[in-house]
Amino acid sequence: MTSALYPTFARADLAFERGEGIRLYTADGEEYLDFASGIAVNSVGHSHPHLVETLAEQAKRLWHVSNLYRIPEQDRLGERLAEATFADVSFFTNSGAEALETAIKTARRYHYANGAPERYRLITFEGAFHGRTLATIAAGGQEKYLEGFGPKVDGFDQVPFGDLDAVKAAIGPQTAGILIEPVQGEGGIRVAPNAFLRGLRELCDENGLLLIYDEVQSGVGRTGKLFAYEWSGVAPDIMGIAKGIGGGFPMGACLATNEAVKGMVHGVHGTTFGGNPLAMAVGNAVLDIVLAPGFLQHVRDAGLRFRQGLARIQDTCPGVIEEIRGEGLMLGIKCKAPNSAVLSALRDQHVLSVGAGDNVARLVPPLTIENVDIDLALDRIEAACRAVSDNLETVEAGQ
Ligand SMILES: Cc1ncc(COP(=O)(O)O)c(C=O)c1O
Repeated sequence: MTSALYPTFARADLAFERGEGIRLYTADGEEYLDFASGIAVNSVGHSHPHLVETLAEQAKRLWHVSNLYRIPEQDRLGERLAEATFADVSFFTNSGAEALETAIKTARRYHYANGAPERYRLITFEGAFHGRTLATIAAGGQEKYLEGFGPKVDGFDQVPFGDLDAVKAAIGPQTAGILIEPVQGEGGIRVAPNAFLRGLRELCDENGLLLIYDEVQSGVGRTGKLFAYEWSGVAPDIMGIAKGIGGGFPMGACLATNEAVKGMVHGVHGTTFGGNPLAMAVGNAVLDIVLAPGFLQHVRDAGLRFRQGLARIQDTCPGVIEEIRGEGLMLGIKCKAPNSAVLSALRDQHVLSVGAGDNVARLVPPLTIENVDIDLALDRIEAACRAVSDNLETVEAGQ
C-alpha cells in the first residue's frame, strides 16, 4: 500500500479508535492492555476525566497567545515544578528533544556568562537517547541515528554508562557539564547506580561543571518518585522533562537553578508554541493527580507487585527472560530470546509494550494502573513468554 507519510516508522498494523484508563480499543472493538503508554507518555491513562475536563474547559477559553504575553497557567506550572524539585525556573517546550536542546544551550551559556566560552563540551553516555534533533543525536552518540546527516554536531564526548573513571578521564578544559539519564529508557531500562550519580555530582562540584539530567522518560512519577533522581538524593543543576508531564498533550520543559540559568538572558532563546495555555492547563492537571497524597506510593506499590510477578514468570520461563530491570512502573524484561519475538507474543496476547536497546522489552503502563489489571497483564505476559519458550524449543528440536 502506498502512503502519503514519511516511511520513517516501523508501524504495527494496528490502529486505535478510543482509549480508557489502561485500555485501548480498535475500531472493531478489540481491547488491548496498554503497557506502552505511547512510549511512557500517558502517565494517568487514556481519557482521564480530570484531563479531559481541563482540556475541554481551556479549549473553550483560550488556546494560544505566544510568549509575547504573560501566561498565568505557565507561571503556575513553573512555580509548582520549582516547589516540587531542585529547580528555581522552567522553560516550556513542545517535546523532549527541545527540552534537551534548551538544557544543552543553558549549560553552554552558563560558562559563556562566566567568561569561559571555550567550555561548551558535555560528557554523555553510551546507550543514551536524548532526541532526534541534530544536537540531541550528537549527544546520544548512536551511529544509527547520526549516519547520513552530515557532520556530527561538535561538543559531545561519550563514555561508558556507569564508568566514573572514564568520566574523570574525559573531563578537560573545554568541558561544560555531564548529561545523563538517571534511568536509560531507549538504552534498555538501565538504572544509574546511586553511587555513580553521587560520583558525578562530586566531579561536577570539583571541576565547576553542570550536572544535567534527562528525565524525559523517567520523570513525573514513572519510577515511584516525582523524579527518578530523588531515589539517589543527588540533585542536578539542569533537567529536561517531557512525556508524562503532558499525559498525552505534547509538551516538555527544561528546569534549572537560578545559578545554572544565568546565561539565558532576554532574547537568547525562544519558542512560539512552548508553554501555551492549552499545554499548561493539561500539565497542571497532570500534576494535580501525580502530586495528590498517596499517588506516588501507589506507583511504588504497583511497581513492586508487577515486578514480583515478572520475577515469577522469569522462574517459569528462564529461556526467555534473563533479568527484570527498572524502578517503579518503568520496568524492562531483558530478554534471552530476541526481544522482537517477546514483543510480538505480547501483542498476540493483547498486551502492548515497547522495544528498547540491549534486547529489552519495556513495560511502562499508565501510573494509575490497579492491581486487578496488573494481575491480568501478568497472566497474559506469562502466556506470551510460554509461547516464545515453546517456539524456541520447537526450533531447537528441529535443528
Ligand atoms: C530520555 C529521553 N530523552 C529525550 C527524548 C526525546 O523526546 P521527544 O521524542 O519528545 O523529542 C526521549 C524520547 O523517547 C527520551 O526517552
